[in-house]
Amino acid sequence: MFINFRRIHKCQCMQLLTTGLLLSVVMVCWEQLDHHVVSHIRSNMHRYLVNSYDFLNYSYVIRKVSAEGESVKYPYLINHPDKCRGRGDEAWDGLNDVLLLLFVKSSPENFDRRQAIRETWGNESYVWSELGASVRIVFALGVHPNVGQRSGVQKALLQEDHTYKDLIQQNFLDTFHNLTVKFILQFHWSHTYCPQASFLMSADDDIFVHMPNLVKYLRQLLSSQSRAKDLWVGHVHRGAPPVRRKENKYHVPVELYPWPSYPDYTAGAGYVVSRDVAEKIYQATLVLSSSIYIDDVFMGICAKTMGVSPQEHVYFSGEAKAPYHPCIYDHMITSHGHATDVRLLWQAATDPTEYHPSRGFLGNLYCTAVRVMLLCLPWNTNTYSCLAAFT
Ligand SMILES: *[C@@H]1O[C@H](CO)[C@@H](O)[C@H](O)[C@H]1NC(C)=O
Ligand SMILES: *[C@@H]1O[C@H](CO)[C@@H](O)[C@H](O)[C@H]1NC(C)=O
Ligand SMILES: *[C@@H]1O[C@H](CO)[C@@H](O)[C@H](O)[C@H]1NC(C)=O
Repeated sequence: MFINFRRIHKCQCMQLLTTGLLLSVVMVCWEQLDHHVVSHIRSNMHRYLVNSYDFLNYSYVIRKVSAEGESVKYPYLINHPDKCRGRGDEAWDGLNDVLLLLFVKSSPENFDRRQAIRETWGNESYVWSELGASVRIVFALGVHPNVGQRSGVQKALLQEDHTYKDLIQQNFLDTFHNLTVKFILQFHWSHTYCPQASFLMSADDDIFVHMPNLVKYLRQLLSSQSRAKDLWVGHVHRGAPPVRRKENKYHVPVELYPWPSYPDYTAGAGYVVSRDVAEKIYQATLVLSSSIYIDDVFMGICAKTMGVSPQEHVYFSGEAKAPYHPCIYDHMITSHGHATDVRLLWQAATDPTEYHPSRGFLGNLYCTAVRVMLLCLPWNTNTYSCLAAFT
């Protein structure tokens, strides 16, 4: 009897202690927990609401501004209105159809990244001569935010543009909080100067685009009539919660966006829209307030109000780099977080002597196994999803 009581007592003590310990851990880590778990649960509960109903339409997010207001707000400092018409040389003459207009979001000082892109996947003449596709690649920029450095950097930009003729610059400060301004630039420019492009792509300047795979994919879409319409494809974020922690770069205050979930959107690292969607987004930018400074979220809001929803493509990457492996290269479209190693990847993408292990039935089997190892193991987070292993 006596001993039993003592046991129970001991047990209860342990229980109390553990509960206390757990509670204090929860209290100490609450902010982390809220950020990583609770806010995601909350946002996923609201995702359906945000995506299904029209309250975003009628909210304060939407304020009519004068239609021409946004577009003439920041005049062009560098522009190439003829970029999408021929190029003077014979091969391009009479060629009005542009398969893809690709905007690379760059910053004035990122010369090395632009140069790496020009020499690799952004080489228009290569894409034309080797892949037979008419692609236009331009870099979208603002002006250098630092007054002291501005005139020097601007001089270098003019020089650079004199050589390559591929910069589109507007007179706004090129800062993180002006990304939505840069976003609007892209859709206004393509509406005005390149409405004939079948597809519009927006990409960061630190991504690798596997041009041969992308061109192949876009051509497939074009040949299957219906799917080249109403298309917005990329790495989709579903039910992402707004970051409320002030110290975070992506912090968005409640006053700016009051709901616990963003509408679905594709990662800004790289996504593609069809011509009709590009036009719809352009129309949306004319009537929506652009106060949300996270450009890909703003795209989500524009698309939501126009009734367009994003599609997932497993080989568009979000934040992370694709694993370096030939079994991946055969399928990859974009990979994020590259600087100089785009040259290495481009070599793998274009060298005809490059080894393609996935050919044949056995090769396919081998590559599926390799991709499962690379993508599906729990510690390989943040790259392509496990589903990509089986395509
Ligand atoms: C682009 O590709 C063409 C044709 O393949 C090549 O001749 C040219 O040197 C390349 N340009 C750059 C900047 O690498
Ligand atoms: C955006 O650019 C405009 C025009 O240069 C500037 O006035 C504004 O301060 C910039 N905004 C931010 C948040 O950098
Ligand atoms: C609101 O959004 C829906 C699609 O969700 C769209 O069809 C409708 O035209 C929008 N209404 C307004 C007033 O923008």
